[in-house]
Formats: sequence, structure tokens, C-alpha cells
Amino acid sequence: MTDPSPRLLFDLQGRVAVVTGGGRGIGRAIAEGLSAWGARLVIAEIDRRTGEAAAEAIRESGGDAIRVPVDVTDPRSISSMLDRAEAEFGAVDILVNNAGMSQRTPAEEYSDPDLDRIIALNLSGLYRCMRETARRWIAQKRPGKIINLASFAGVVADPLSAPYAATKGGVVQLTRTCAVEWARHGILVNAIGPGYTRTEMTAATLDNPETEAVIRSKTPLGRAATPAEMAGAAVFLSSSASDYVTGHILMVDGGWTAV
Ligand SMILES: NC(=O)c1ccc[n+]([C@@H]2O[C@H](COP(=O)([O-])OP(=O)(O)OC[C@H]3O[C@@H](n4cnc5c(N)ncnc54)[C@H](O)[C@@H]3O)[C@@H](O)[C@H]2O)c1
Repeated sequence: MTDPSPRLLFDLQGRVAVVTGGGRGIGRAIAEGLSAWGARLVIAEIDRRTGEAAAEAIRESGGDAIRVPVDVTDPRSISSMLDRAEAEFGAVDILVNNAGMSQRTPAEEYSDPDLDRIIALNLSGLYRCMRETARRWIAQKRPGKIINLASFAGVVADPLSAPYAATKGGVVQLTRTCAVEWARHGILVNAIGPGYTRTEMTAATLDNPETEAVIRSKTPLGRAATPAEMAGAAVFLSSSASDYVTGHILMVDGGWTAV
């Protein structure tokens, strides 16, 4: 492999990136960040309205993006989303597994349907996206980069989030294990571990003065993140700047897990 010029380390010109759940929040900010560095974007989104709006915003700012419908809890839907991405752009180079949900409930009160739902989306859905993409890359003998959205809650306790935390702990271990298994195929697998980030997912928690104060006090940087603050890590992990990084969980958490 030839080393790129240091000025081109973060360049994503010519690369195609799929971002699941890219219609809003962290996924949208990551899609915009990758586009700013030259990537062509597939906004793989279950919500037609937000997905179309995110793709349109990227096109308006001079980038290249399409929205492709997907429900990552449905294996056939993942497969047709990737078929469509390949048909449209030729190949996929980067997969950002961002689609996810959270639910704050005392651990003893969590219902079975809620438990099944969060595992199906955050863990099984994410794994199926990784597996289907890796199968294609291995068959095509293509290298690729996978970036999973884990969480600070995947490595330390976050009360009222037990099943969520378990899915994110699972994402951490999927990241490490698949990184080791797929290294010989040139498939690099890393994760971003956000701290509390202001999105629709966390609006109720961050708008509540009591919980917001706890979050501030537990974060050395003293505030929640903005979605845009996740984009730099995604650009790094998508680009040649991270060509010797795999199996890594990059915490972007204002120092929460350093304490
Ligand atoms: N916001 C935070 O504080 C925070 C902290 C740590 C980790 N994370 C993780 O970052 C990721 C994004 O979080 P967010 O805060 O932007 O969430 P969000 O709820 O704002 O956005 C989630 C997106 O995923 C999409 N989605 C939901 N189900 C889907 C499905 N079945 N198929 C395809 N897309 C689907 C939604 O339509 C939405 O666009 C999640 O994995 C989350 O767990 C968030």
C-alpha cells in the first residue's frame, strides 16, 4: 500500500458510504461530515421524510447523496438496500452502522416486547448489516471500513438503560471480534462511543433539568455533545488516516469514561 500524501489523509473523494439511520441526529451529521470530505452518500433510512430531506440537503450543498429505504431489523431489506447502493454507485466502501434506539426504564420493569425490539435493532440489525456487507466485500475481494455506533453505555453503567447498555456492550464486542476475523480480508472494523449527544433520542433526558445536571456533572467537559461533534471521528475512521486502526472503540464522550 502506498502512503497517501499527509494532505490527502482524510480525503474521501470517490468513496461510497452507507449510513444507516442517516436521516437525523448523529447519522445525519456523520453523513454530512463524510460528504464534506468528498464521499458519495447512501442515506439508508426507514423514515422516508427525514431520509429524503437529509439526502436533499447534501445535494444542495454540492454533494452526492441518495436515500434508500431500509429497515435494518429485516434481513431482506438490508440486502435490497445494498443492491440498490451498488446499482447506483457501483460499490460500497464504507458502512456506518448508526440506526439505533434507546429506552430509559428501570431494569426490573422492562417488558419482553421492548427487550426484543431493542435487541433486534441495536444488536441483531447492526450485526446483519455488518455481515451482509462483509460477505459482499469478501466475494468482491474489496477492502472496506465499517464504523459502528456504540456508546459510553457500552463500557460503563448508565442506570435505567440496562438492555440498551447490553446491546451497546454487544456492539463493542462485535466490533473487536469482527475486526480480528476480517482483518485478513482488508475489512477494518471500528466503533465510535458517543457520550450524551443532543438528538431526538435524548431530548427528553436533556430537557429535564435534573437529568441534564447529572449528565453535566458526570462529563469532564461539562456539557452534552452536538451531533456534529461525532462527524470528525467518523471521517477519521472512514479515511486513509486510520488505515492501521482496527478493533478500536473511539470514545467521543467529553471524558465521561476517563473518570
Ligand atoms: N444521542 C446520544 O446521546 C447517543 C449516545 C450514544 C450512542 N448513540 C447512538 O448513536 C446512534 C444514533 O443516535 P441518535 O441519537 O442520532 O438517534 P435518533 O433517534 O435521533 O436517530 C436514529 C435514526 O435511526 C433510524 N432508524 C430507527 N430504526 C431504524 C430501522 N429499523 N432501520 C433503519 N433506520 C432506523 C431513525 O429513523 C433515525 O433516523 C444510535 O445507535 C445511538 O444508540 C447516541
